[in-house]
Amino acid sequence: MKKIFLSMILSLLVFGSNEAFAQAAPGDEMGNVSQQKILIAYYSYSGNTAAVAKAIQAKTGGDLFEIKSDHAYPAEYRPMTEQAKKEIADGFRPKLTTKVGNIAQYDIVFLGSPNWWGTITPQVSSFLESYDLNGKTVVPFITHGGGGVQNTIRDMTAQCKGCRVEQNGWTGYGSRTSGIQDWIDGLKLVP
Ligand SMILES: Cc1cc2nc3c(=O)[nH]c(=O)nc-3n(C[C@H](O)[C@H](O)[C@H](O)COP(=O)(O)O)c2cc1C
Repeated sequence: MKKIFLSMILSLLVFGSNEAFAQAAPGDEMGNVSQQKILIAYYSYSGNTAAVAKAIQAKTGGDLFEIKSDHAYPAEYRPMTEQAKKEIADGFRPKLTTKVGNIAQYDIVFLGSPNWWGTITPQVSSFLESYDLNGKTVVPFITHGGGGVQNTIRDMTAQCKGCRVEQNGWTGYGSRTSGIQDWIDGLKLVP
């Protein structure tokens, strides 16, 4: 009973905020943002960044896109991290197996990456090199295992040609999603 009541309150909060997002009057900040076409693109190796991407999607109503690659990693954690370390040092760019249909239609791209060795993953770098993001606003969201933002947003900014990268990106430990609504509300996405 308590569970049902809690989930009712939760869905009221979620749907209530979505409605506010969609129906805010033109001219105010959220109103302007809601008229922009939003893409939420992310790479996730173990699920944390995917969870954050889904939370952003639920709040903004944007289109969700998973950056995938057929590039494989060892099953064991340590060899996997060592391979990733070498790839980052070598500037390796894996071939992507998913494709955004029409990137030109989007004004705002939320772009998610796990923190790997202090930077964004090679798959996210491949994404940045695969699309023309010129003139778009790119909003980073980073998940990490305790190291925080490190060089992730700096490197994403350097690799994003011609785009405006929001420096107040999301940086959260693991799959944390609490605080996402406040973060989105605080973004100055309209120039
Ligand atoms: C290859 C590799 C390197 C990592 N390097 C870091 C790091 O430098 N700093 C950090 O805080 N977390 C690091 N982590 C932890 C991940 O950033 C964290 O678990 C993240 O939330 C994973 O996201 P995902 O589940 O979407 O793949 C690393 C994880 C992996 C697999």
